[in-house]
Amino acid sequence: MTSLKGKIITVVGSGLIGRSWAMVFLSGGYKVKIYDNEPGQASGAITEISRKQIEELQRAKMLRGNLTAAQQLSLLSSHDDLQQALEGAFFVQECVFEDLEAKHSVFHEVENLVTESVILSSSTSCLMPSNVFSRVQNRTRCIISHPVNPPYYVRLVELVPHPETLPAVMDVAYSLMTDVGQAPVRLSKEIDGFALNRVQYAIIAESWRLVQDGVISVKDIDLVMSEGLGMRYAFIGPIETMHLNAPEGMEDYLQRYSEGMKRVLNTFGPVPDFSGEPAARIVKEICELIPAEQEHLTVRRERRDQLLMELAKLKK
Ligand code: NAI
Repeated sequence: MTSLKGKIITVVGSGLIGRSWAMVFLSGGYKVKIYDNEPGQASGAITEISRKQIEELQRAKMLRGNLTAAQQLSLLSSHDDLQQALEGAFFVQECVFEDLEAKHSVFHEVENLVTESVILSSSTSCLMPSNVFSRVQNRTRCIISHPVNPPYYVRLVELVPHPETLPAVMDVAYSLMTDVGQAPVRLSKEIDGFALNRVQYAIIAESWRLVQDGVISVKDIDLVMSEGLGMRYAFIGPIETMHLNAPEGMEDYLQRYSEGMKRVLNTFGPVPDFSGEPAARIVKEICELIPAEQEHLTVRRERRDQLLMELAKLKK
């Protein structure tokens, strides 16, 4: 595959995720052009990325890639005109609101302004590729590249094809994500929730049921993850965990534990409603631990990002 280095990527939508993608692509030495349809929003994003983020990261010695903050920032530009923003791009990363109509209108506009070879990639977290790209004429170059927030520290990217996406398009997206230091995974076909949210929702559902049924408190179920499962899951996935947790590996694990797993799994309740009295109780319990006022939430978010930064350092 020809080198992608130094090529241009257009980021459409300069909110939380658009800015994060821009920083990730810059760290890999790509030229990034940011566009937003809200006048002044893209240039505001540049101020935020440069002063607040990239320079601060350099001071904290957490800047990603081999380029200095100044070198990375010299590759970044903002545009209020979509055509100008798309000029020369080989890859378009869409990051507008999670709204099907908004995605349709962006991809319709973009497709009319780029050549056939340009890859159209969406950041959507919950929409299916066949819906997101339903109004695109040439869907063979369409893909979902779903990041995890904040992508600068949490490197996973789920690559999800449209049923018509060419394997070569998946390969280019995979190479690009690897090149910028992300950790891409390929899904072979579209599925609601992709992989990450399907696993996440399974965890949320069982945690919710246990609290709802009075088995455990909110504080303690969160500790089950943060002091238990999460400790290993930052480094080892569930399948490797099984393989390592029996003396002779996976087959041994299945012999020892599959009956127990099935017994427990058969006791799982239905999908929770996430409403009514149980929801009120769970909201009250979490708000007693972390009040829902902005000042408290901000402190906890900053703590989360700081800890993720430290973990990213450790994983390196
Ligand atoms: P956001 O609300 O922070 O930013 C959206 C930006 O898109 C705004 O700046 C808005 O002005 C711009 N925009 C809206 N319509 C536009 C258009 N037609 N053309 C150009 N710009 C337009 O949203 P956020 O959180 O950055 O999400 C963006 C996408 O990323 C969504 O699809 C979301 O599901 C996905 N995502 C979000 C994650 C998160 O944790 N926030 C995580 C993973 C994916």
